[in-house]
Amino acid sequence: MTPKISVENVAHSFESRRKGVRTAALERISLDIAAGSFVCLLGPSGCGKSTVLNLIAGFEKPGDGRILVDGHPVTGPGADRGVVFQEPLLLPWRNVLGNVTFGSQLAGRLNGQALAQARRYLHLTGLDGFEEHATYELSGGMRQRVALARAWMVEPPVLLMDEPFGALDAQTRLSMQELLTDIWSAARTTVLFVTHDVDEALFLADRIVVMSARPGRIIQDLAVPFDRPRAYEALIREPEFAALKQAILHTVRQEARR
Ligand SMILES: Nc1ncnc2c1ncn2[C@@H]1O[C@H](COP(=O)(O)OP(=O)(O)O)[C@@H](O)[C@H]1O
Ligand SMILES: [Mg+2]
Repeated sequence: MTPKISVENVAHSFESRRKGVRTAALERISLDIAAGSFVCLLGPSGCGKSTVLNLIAGFEKPGDGRILVDGHPVTGPGADRGVVFQEPLLLPWRNVLGNVTFGSQLAGRLNGQALAQARRYLHLTGLDGFEEHATYELSGGMRQRVALARAWMVEPPVLLMDEPFGALDAQTRLSMQELLTDIWSAARTTVLFVTHDVDEALFLADRIVVMSARPGRIIQDLAVPFDRPRAYEALIREPEFAALKQAILHTVRQEARR
C-alpha cells in the first residue's frame, strides 16, 4: 500500500544571514508513514523536527530528496495537511466561533452544516459557551483548544502538530492528549506529532521515530505496543512503559550531549 507520507532521502540546510555560511539541519532522512497511523517525532532541541514538519507541510522545499503525500510530490501547503503550532495562531479580530469557521468561510462553505460542525468541535474541546468570546479572553490552554478545533474542523487527512501542548500546564496537557487520541480514534486521520517529551510520545503514538542531534538523522524507530484506549495512570505503571521510556531517554540524552 502507498504510504500516506513518504520522506525520501531528504537533506536540508539553511543559509545563514552571514553570506555563504550554511547550517545543515537534516542529513538524510527517509520515513514512510502509514495512513491512519499516529507517529511521534522525538529528538533533542534543534535537531530538525520542525524542519521535517515544515517540509511535509510544504512551507519549505527540501534541498535534496523528495516528499510525497499519497504518492504525489508536495509542491506547497494544502488543505489536505492541517498544521497545529506550539503557539496557537488565532485571528484576534475574530471571536472563537469565527476562528473555527474561518477556513470554511474562505472556501465559501460557511453554511448551517459547517456551523453545526464547528459547534460540535467546540463542544468536544470543552469550549461550550465560549463561542462569542474574544480570543484574548481565553487562557493559553483554551486558545490551543480553539486551534485544535479549527484544525479538526477541516477534517484534513493529515494533521501535522509541532509541540502543540508544550506550553500547557501538566493537567491541561493530559486532557488535551486524551482529547486528541479520542478524536483521532474516531476520525483516523494520519497524525505526525513533534515532541521532545518521551511520556507524551509513549501515551500518544503507535510509533516513535527518534532523531539524532543536528544535523538530524533517524536513529531509532520503534512501535508502541500499548492497547487503546490508553489510561495514563495505568500506562505509567506498566513495566514495559518504564523500559521503553528508559531506552528512549537514554538515546535522546546521549544525543543531546553530543
Ligand atoms: N528558517 C531558518 N533559518 C536558519 N536556520 C534555521 C531555520 N529554521 C531552522 N533552522 C536551524 O535548523 C536547525 C533545526 O531547527 P528545527 O527544525 O527548528 O529544530 P527542532 O524543531 O528539532 O528544535 C537548527 O539548528 C535551527 O537553528
Ligand atoms: Mg521545533
